[in-house]
Amino acid sequence: MTAPLLITLLQGAVLAVTVLLAAALVALALGRRTLHGKLNTIFFLLAVTTVFGLEVVVRIVWPHLSAEFFDPAGPYRQPLLVHLCFSVPATMILAAMMYTGRYHHGATHRALSGLFLILWIGTVVTGVFYLPNSVPPPMPSHEVATR
Ligand code: HEM
Repeated sequence: MTAPLLITLLQGAVLAVTVLLAAALVALALGRRTLHGKLNTIFFLLAVTTVFGLEVVVRIVWPHLSAEFFDPAGPYRQPLLVHLCFSVPATMILAAMMYTGRYHHGATHRALSGLFLILWIGTVVTGVFYLPNSVPPPMPSHEVATR
């Protein structure tokens, strides 16, 4: 497994679950509250499974990836830290959204929804558009020699 491939897979997963979230919001706008709950329960389970799987993969299965992502000299660290500023709080509020929706704390659920949407949009934009998913080609040796 390489860092660019893992990032590409995660970007696909984030876009796929975002389609579910969008469908759940359309369902809500059409007054289909139960459907909104069902679609978002699937969204929640897929998102949590992805986060959990990612943690297992980068910490236990391929720990070299974690080192590569946070290498201060590498291309990932800076955009990754920005992405984590959105994705970590988004994941925490996602759990609260699931709880408040499931147990009918409607007022809290609605109050948190704006913050959740802002954090989720930030997660998608910083994850899909700013995290590099290809390795820059190596610099030709004559250019390295002249620098
Ligand atoms: C992001 C924007 C969201 C908005 C504006 C929103 C809004 C709502 C509203 C107005 C209700 C009806 C609440 C009531 O009065 O009982 C509801 C229900 C619910 N929501 Fe959300 N929600 C959002 C996101 C989410 C997310 C991310 C989840 C789960 C991760 C979720 C899960 C649920 C569930 C399980 C219900 C209960 C459905 C039922 O009654 O069967 N929602 N939501």
